[in-house]
Amino acid sequence: MKDKSAPAIPRTEPIQSATFSNPVNAEIRRAAATGIYDIRGGGAKRRVPHFDDLLFLGASISRYPLEGYREKCDTRVTLGTRFAKNPIKLDIPVTIAGMSFGALSSPAKEALGRGASAAGTSTTTGDGGMTEEERGHSTKLVYQYLPSRYGMNPTDLRRADAIEIVVGQGAKPGGGGMLLGQKISDRVAGMRNLPKGIDQRSACRHPDWTGPDDLEIKILEIREITGWKVPIYVKIGGTRPYYDTTLAVKAGADVVVLDGMQGGTAATQDVFIENVGLPTLACIRPAVQALQDLGLHREVQLIVSGGIRTGADVAKAIALGADAVAIGTAALVALGDNDPKWEAEYQKLGTTTGAYDDWHEGRDPAGITTQDPELMARFDPIEGGRRLRNYLKVLTLEAQTIARACGHNHLHNLEPEDLCALTMEAAAMARVPLAGTDWYPGKAGF
Ligand SMILES: Cc1cc2nc3c(=O)[nH]c(=O)nc-3n(C[C@H](O)[C@H](O)[C@H](O)COP(=O)(O)O)c2cc1C
Repeated sequence: MKDKSAPAIPRTEPIQSATFSNPVNAEIRRAAATGIYDIRGGGAKRRVPHFDDLLFLGASISRYPLEGYREKCDTRVTLGTRFAKNPIKLDIPVTIAGMSFGALSSPAKEALGRGASAAGTSTTTGDGGMTEEERGHSTKLVYQYLPSRYGMNPTDLRRADAIEIVVGQGAKPGGGGMLLGQKISDRVAGMRNLPKGIDQRSACRHPDWTGPDDLEIKILEIREITGWKVPIYVKIGGTRPYYDTTLAVKAGADVVVLDGMQGGTAATQDVFIENVGLPTLACIRPAVQALQDLGLHREVQLIVSGGIRTGADVAKAIALGADAVAIGTAALVALGDNDPKWEAEYQKLGTTTGAYDDWHEGRDPAGITTQDPELMARFDPIEGGRRLRNYLKVLTLEAQTIARACGHNHLHNLEPEDLCALTMEAAAMARVPLAGTDWYPGKAGF
């Protein structure tokens, strides 16, 4: 039995548990107080292997760099060369990912169209249908065909420059979306044919298919509706990229969009965002392998998304075999999301700049992820478009700088041999050598 008179052993420092950390305990208390799970927007916040864990090997003697001021580095990409009569030709390999009207305000959708068009790239609709603002301001608009079918109509299918059949998203592969009642305005409700002010869940799977054979039928159906003119993309959340890419391509996709777990969402359960799916870095090589095994790498294009922030990320994704990337969260930040100028208002919402992710609540001080007319009025779509265009330009210039330093006159000439990895995990996932070695885990012959 413990001697109660014995003095307590003094400790110099109180020790916090790594397992039961303060944020973990705070979430347990929140769950205990409310009985509901936490919903938020954004992508995985936990640290997982990412593009930051890769470095480029610039040219020196064994490779020959290009001169930035005189020698060109092409950035153009054509998407949908397999079957479509009118493939999409982009000036830059950075596209704007699908983000729903409902999650985003109509001026935000307009700004995405303006910025993307000025930069020579495409933007994408989302759950909830096509708005006139985005169609009017996007020179190239990809129309999403989603499991929910919210806002879907064949007329809009025919007004699109490409169709993206969404099977899944990186933030929530296997799960569906959410749009809470406070964001269901008259206009959002009207476009979705659902009542105003009532929470909406988007389905996690398409109502009329149970497997890859049905995907093939669906692709044919959409090709017929659109006269075989526009490319058909298939978007998947990164979980089994080799098999899912293979099946999407066998079903007839022109383009595969692959979204890793860092990929943003407008709203879903936090537990889902943080615990389901593969890091973006781990998705790319298996998908490229699938395309190579089918003999269709570069003929069926691969768009990668999930945590793309810089020109270095763009260049790394392309070096690993992607044809283009898509951005969601970074585009919103470029428009003004999480801007420090709203700090006082973030504080009132119980958060802070850089951590604001309650996009589902519709109280966004920046007026981007809201349907509140007063908040929306704060956002200027022309200025937002200008900022997005600038940001896309910087991403492109950065990627070009790196490609030239590696000796390439087109971004698509970047290759895995241009890269090394800083960690064993990244080396294994990206299948590029650990820095300073010629080895990566799993490499044949070692
Ligand atoms: C506000 C918001 C809304 C989104 N809405 C949709 C959607 O309607 N359909 C869809 O396929 N993906 C949607 N996504 C996911 C994006 O298309 C994309 O996969 C993801 O944002 C890419 O990762 P990133 O945010 O790190 O760039 C949404 C993402 C955000 C941030």
